Amino acid sequence: MKPFEIKKGIYWVGVVDWNVRSFHGHTYSTKRGSTYNAYLIIDEKVALIDTVLGSFSGELIERIKEIIPPEKIDYVIANHVETDHSGAMPALMKLCPKAKVYGTQKCKEGLYRNYYENWDFQVVKTGDTLKLGKRTLTFIEAPMIHWPDSMFTYCREEELLMPNDAFGQHYATSEHFDDQVDQCALMDEAAKYYGNILWPLSSLILRKIEDVQKMSVPIKMIAPSHGIIWRKDPAKIINAYVSWAKNETKKKVVIAYESMWGSTAKMARKMLDGMADAGVSVKLFDIAQSDTTEVIKEMLDAKGFLIGSSTHDNDMLPSIAGFLAFLKGLKPKNRVAAAFGSFGWSGGAVVSIEKELKEAGIADVVPSISCKYVPDVDETKKCYEFGKEFAQKI
Ligand code: FEO
Repeated sequence: MKPFEIKKGIYWVGVVDWNVRSFHGHTYSTKRGSTYNAYLIIDEKVALIDTVLGSFSGELIERIKEIIPPEKIDYVIANHVETDHSGAMPALMKLCPKAKVYGTQKCKEGLYRNYYENWDFQVVKTGDTLKLGKRTLTFIEAPMIHWPDSMFTYCREEELLMPNDAFGQHYATSEHFDDQVDQCALMDEAAKYYGNILWPLSSLILRKIEDVQKMSVPIKMIAPSHGIIWRKDPAKIINAYVSWAKNETKKKVVIAYESMWGSTAKMARKMLDGMADAGVSVKLFDIAQSDTTEVIKEMLDAKGFLIGSSTHDNDMLPSIAGFLAFLKGLKPKNRVAAAFGSFGWSGGAVVSIEKELKEAGIADVVPSISCKYVPDVDETKKCYEFGKEFAQKI
């Protein structure tokens, strides 16, 4: 793929990673692959905005060479330390050793602790600018969106925001822009990205969007560091972020469970019947067999969570325990939840699940429902009624 212009004289020189299937260790499944976007601005001075994953350094450098010799780069803007965006810096900086690196103080510290190189570094703060010639870059610190070092770079003359991870998606395509791809897939990946990475930072994100609006920086294009570039409708993703950050929900419940011999699964299916008959949208997942990245995405706009497990060694089963540990870190707000599960001789799973749900910050945890061994006719009916009653709280 050739470098392409996102604006006159501003080139995408990134990489499409078609085959990556997990991210952040194995906490995030990337079934549609990903991209690492880097942007080269040709003006009186030349600036490169971000780099790519280290294993793709050669591809980045080849793309830059199609436009200019890398030694002509005057500035490397490091919006974020994480290695999917800075990994190619050591190889690149060898080719442009005089280039000055721009980033936040935390970025300076983080880059040093990753690469132990003494690059010429200029620390910047919100509102600082860098004149390239016809264009000027403005820097906007964005701490904890999603690392302490994170920063957005804005080009006023082009009304172009380059916010690194924010507004991105793990979505590998041969197309480049929002008007060229399937909208459902695009928003699906954007929601998955928000739910699994940015959800716990929602209050900071809302504040940052308000701050940027107060800075009166008109935005015609958002070029994130992953996935598709928003040129037709940047407001679409900004509005989606505002809704997700406000924890706005739908009349929807996610049931996530793990079952040893099928009794907890039977309870889950009966509760689903009760809720569906009451007019609530429900998604059901056996966590031991599900892609948890997808489950979290479904939870992002669901008002209700029903979490179930069989009791094993007086506690919940390990897959659901791992899932709840992840959910706890996402700190969902404005939800209703309940625990359920079957047990043989002594319970324990629902008690542990309730504790985890409360520790996740869910204030409204309604009393749980349990069943000894296999639910009989009456207990099956109770599960159905439980589902119907839970639906009333949604
Ligand atoms: Fe895409 Fe936080 O790195």
